[in-house]
Amino acid sequence: MPRPRTVTLAFTGASGIPYGLRLLDCLIKAGTRVHLLYSSAAQIVARQELDLVLPTQPAAATAFFAERYAAAPGQLTVYGSEDWFSPVASGSNPADAMAICPCSMGALGAIAAGLAANLIERAADVMLKERRTLVLVPRETPLSAIHLDNMLKLAHAGAVILPPSPGFYGHPQSVADLVDFVAARVLDQLGVEHALGPRWGTQQAAPVQVQRT
Ligand SMILES: Cc1cc2nc3c(=O)[nH]c(=O)nc-3n(C[C@H](O)[C@H](O)[C@H](O)COP(=O)(O)O)c2cc1C
Repeated sequence: MPRPRTVTLAFTGASGIPYGLRLLDCLIKAGTRVHLLYSSAAQIVARQELDLVLPTQPAAATAFFAERYAAAPGQLTVYGSEDWFSPVASGSNPADAMAICPCSMGALGAIAAGLAANLIERAADVMLKERRTLVLVPRETPLSAIHLDNMLKLAHAGAVILPPSPGFYGHPQSVADLVDFVAARVLDQLGVEHALGPRWGTQQAAPVQVQRT
């Protein structure tokens, strides 16, 4: 049996917590081992966007998410922001891939600057130095030159910059469809299988016939 894929998933305090939660749901359903990290700003945004209270203590948070997404024993672990003894803190035990979704401009700037001042920044730093997949889902609009410079710097360092920009060519019917569009693109980058919507060029995504006049 091959080792299950291990993914580090982080939520930061940008708008878009539903994307992150959907990703977590799909990662668990796909049998992926998940290291989950979130910032205190992400807790505030989760409360604002979804009325969802994310537990502060890692043990309580692990139990909360394991129950919510029916994770297998040991499949999901939440780590605190200064848990330097966690696997994600070291290049000797990196995950196969990491996503920060949503990614605040603050987190983006800190990672671009190599600060590694909390576990999310350190885990991302490790992924870059170990040449592993790091997917950032930055959310802000409009973008300043500072944001754009940081994104370019990270792209040059090997990160995947994946803005949450759902396409409308698949005829989304709901907000959930829009969320799934973004989650699907992130899962593709992480190398995790999913069945979130038809893929372009398949029968399920047949093009609309345009009437010629
Ligand atoms: C409701 C709410 C929405 C926010 N949306 C964004 C956002 O879309 N993008 C962003 O960069 N910051 C956003 N912020 C500000 C960040 O949360 C703030 O800069 C914070 O310091 C980020 O911290 P973190 O990177 O440690 O999570 C938002 C804050 C709140 C309370």
